[in-house]
Amino acid sequence: MTAAFQQCIHPDCGARFDTSQILTSCPACGSLLDVCYNWDQVPVPRSLREFEKRWLSRLNPVDFSGVWRFRELLPFATDKQIVTIGEGQTILQKNDLLAGRCGMRPGTLFLQYEGQNPSGSFKDNGMTAASTHAHQVGARMTACASTGNTSASLAIYAGVTGLFRCVVFVGSGRIAYGKLSQALDYGARTIQIRGDFDDALARVRQICSKHPIYLCNSVNPFRLEGQKTIMYRVLEGLGWQVPDWIVVPGGNLGNSSAFGKAFLELKQLGLIDRIPRLAIINARGACTLDRLVNEGGLKWNQGRPSSEQIGQFYTQMDRDQNKASTLASAIEINRPVNLEKALRAIDVCDGIVRSVSDQEIIDARAMIASCGFGCEPASGATIAGVQLLRKQGLIAASDRVVCILTGHQLKDPDLTVAYHSNDSALREKKLGPSGVRETIWSNAPVVVDNDEAAILRAIGIN
Ligand code: F0G
Repeated sequence: MTAAFQQCIHPDCGARFDTSQILTSCPACGSLLDVCYNWDQVPVPRSLREFEKRWLSRLNPVDFSGVWRFRELLPFATDKQIVTIGEGQTILQKNDLLAGRCGMRPGTLFLQYEGQNPSGSFKDNGMTAASTHAHQVGARMTACASTGNTSASLAIYAGVTGLFRCVVFVGSGRIAYGKLSQALDYGARTIQIRGDFDDALARVRQICSKHPIYLCNSVNPFRLEGQKTIMYRVLEGLGWQVPDWIVVPGGNLGNSSAFGKAFLELKQLGLIDRIPRLAIINARGACTLDRLVNEGGLKWNQGRPSSEQIGQFYTQMDRDQNKASTLASAIEINRPVNLEKALRAIDVCDGIVRSVSDQEIIDARAMIASCGFGCEPASGATIAGVQLLRKQGLIAASDRVVCILTGHQLKDPDLTVAYHSNDSALREKKLGPSGVRETIWSNAPVVVDNDEAAILRAIGIN
C-alpha cells in the first residue's frame, strides 16, 4: 500500500511519514498527524451510490462492516489486514416524536444511533481502524486512557480477536460502571490511576512512547479514519443527500475532527456538492472548546491557530485549579487532544460550538429515551444543543438535523435510575444540583406491598 501516508497537519511543517511508522504526533514539530492518500492511486468510486452494492455481498466480513464497506475512502490496509468484529451496523433513524418536542417539523430530525456497536459506543468505528493498523505494524499490545468507552472498545477488540494483550488507564472514580465492567469482562489489564482522564492520557502517552505498546486514543490518526465512516452512513441513510446540520457531543474532539475530514475529502473528491454545518456541543462543566472559540475567538487560521492563546488558557486553567466536572462523564475532559483538528473541522463545516448544562443534558437524555432511543448522558448533549440552537434561531424548524447518539443507555444505568427516583436524597447524591427537582420525564418505580388491592391502586385500576 503506497497510496496512504501520514502527514503533519501544521502547514509550516507538513512532514510526511510512511504508514509503517507508529506515531501519535509529528516527530519534527509535535503537531497532530493526518492519514492522507494519493487519491489518483486509489480506485475511488465515481458516486457514493456505488457503495450500496456492498449490501449484496455482506457475507464477506469486510463488506459486512459498516466501516470497511467504505474502504476505498480509508484505503490504508488490504482486505486481508483488516481487523473487524462487525462494527458499524448502525442506521440513521428519523424520529418525528422527538422532532416535535424540539420544535422541528416532521421528517427533519434524525438520530445516528452508535450505541448499536459491539461495545455499545461509536468508538468501535475508530478501534477497528486502529486495530487494523496495529496488526499491520505487528503490535502485540495495545493501550488507551479512557473515560470508559474507549477502554470498553479497546478491550473487546483485543479480547475477541486474540491479536493483542491490552491495558487501559482510567481515572479514579469517574467512570460509569457499565463501561468499567466491560473492560473487566473483556479481559483488559485495567489500571485505575489516582487522577482524572487528562492525567491518565498524559501517563499512557508517556508509557507508550517508551515501550512497545500501541496507543489507541484519538491522537492515533488511523482511529479517526474509521470514525469518518459515521458520516458516510449518515449520508447513506439520507439517500446520499447532505443534511443541514450534524450535531455531536464534544469531548476529546475526535469525532468532530473525523467528521470535518470526511466532508472535506468527499467534497475534494467531487462525491458531495456541499458540506453540512457542524454543531459541537460541550458540557458546561467541560467547555474548553466553547470558551476558546466563543470567548477567545480562536480560529483554525489556515492551520496556524494561536498556540500561545491555547497555552495561556491551559496555564490559567491550572492556576485556577479549574477541573472539568460534568455528569456526562464521557466528556469530562480539560484538554481536548484534537483541539486543532476540531478547529479545522469548524472551518470546513462553518461550524459552531455551544455548551449546555448538566440539567439540560440529563433532561434531554431522558427525553430521547422517552422517544425510544436509550443513550448515555454525553449523547443527550446533542438534543440539548438542538433545543438551544432552535431558541437561538440558528437551527430552523425545517432544517434537516442529524444528532450523533454516541453511546448506549446501559453504559450509565446508575444515573438513569437516580434521575427517575423519587428519593430526593439519592437524586441529589448522584446528580448533584441537577438532581434537586423532578421533571416531566421522571418515572419513579412505585413501592407497594405484595397485595392485589394495593397493586391495582398503584396501577390506577380501581
Ligand atoms: N460521547 C461518548 C459516549 C464518549 O464516550 C465520548 C468520548 C464522547 C462522546 C466524546 O467524543 O472525544 O470524539 O469528542 N469518550 C472518550 C473515552 C474520551 O475515553 O471513552 P470525542
